[in-house]
Amino acid sequence: MKETKKRILSGITPSGNALHIGNYFGAVKPQIELQNTHQTYYFVADLHALTTIHDREELERNITGVVLDYLALGLDSEKCVFFRQSTVPAHSQLAIVLANYISFGQMQRMHAFKDKLQKDTGVESINMGLFNYPLLMAADILLYKPFGVPVGDDQRQHVELARDIAEKFNKTYDQEVFPLPEPLISETVGRIVGTDGKRKMSKSLNNIIGIFEDETVIKKQIMDCFTDPNRQRATDPGKVEGNPIFIYHDLINDNHKEVAELKARYLQGKVGDVEVKEKLFLAHQRLFASARTRRQELVQNLTVVKKILAEGAEQACRLAKQTLAEVYQVIGEDNQLNKN
Ligand code: TYM
Repeated sequence: MKETKKRILSGITPSGNALHIGNYFGAVKPQIELQNTHQTYYFVADLHALTTIHDREELERNITGVVLDYLALGLDSEKCVFFRQSTVPAHSQLAIVLANYISFGQMQRMHAFKDKLQKDTGVESINMGLFNYPLLMAADILLYKPFGVPVGDDQRQHVELARDIAEKFNKTYDQEVFPLPEPLISETVGRIVGTDGKRKMSKSLNNIIGIFEDETVIKKQIMDCFTDPNRQRATDPGKVEGNPIFIYHDLINDNHKEVAELKARYLQGKVGDVEVKEKLFLAHQRLFASARTRRQELVQNLTVVKKILAEGAEQACRLAKQTLAEVYQVIGEDNQLNKN
């Protein structure tokens, strides 16, 4: 891995036990592409999952599921450093430090907290892990001094907070300790719509198309997908633009001629939703066939997975410790009492 390559960092929270196509197209696919041109650090944000998961078996299932999904989708341990957040203690240590360079007011304006406050009864039902989540995420990022952070649009505010904290810190000590990380967010695929056709695809909204679930599950998710609400019969001309089923076709279906034909027939009222959906299901099977096979192989081979994670943690710790030492030096925790 050449040190001259620009550094990239990103992560996924195992709040569920499997990734969906929103995660894949919005984040994982761009991250995989960056492996060839950049120095890449990718991790499973297992400490972040504690904001919602308080059952140890469920946590284990989720972490394992997301690790396997991430690797099966194309993370290459020869090219990237892949690790679990909880195995690099510097993430938690830096978060404690960074908390002092951001105001309570700014933390209160973060979407995750505000949304939760609106949905639930009030602050009594919000744990501090959720409130502090963007702080831990800022530490995740700044520890590695990355040039860029490839994420979906829902993470933009968090990356911006990391930039604000970095700026405040640098200014306080009049030193460029933290380079400001760029959010790398695609305009076209940064926010994949859910199968309800309204909101962002998200496991908690139950509007996902999975990747590794049983084929019957995936098929049902596709068959239940919202299409053009104004179209009653297959003979009615339909709308293609903004229609989720065609958004997915454009992303998933490698047979571009078939997609163009389906769109033309849909516009003229010459194809039913069922055929469009069945073709999407077949395209999904084609696209993810090799990842599904790879995942099955990994399940049979957890020793290999454990080795990848252990080596990743070792490499990540090396860099993370360096940054933490620099920070301790700059702020004065490292001082005459621990120097020779
Ligand atoms: P998470 O686990 O919710 O999502 C993982 C990645 O998938 C993207 N994503 C989407 N992109 C497009 N359309 C969608 N419908 C969609 N749903 C999810 C997310 O934007 C994300 O890039 N806080 C992060 C994890 C994290 C992290 C970090 C990321 C923790 N520390 C440091 C980068 C750097 C999260 O919960 O993502």
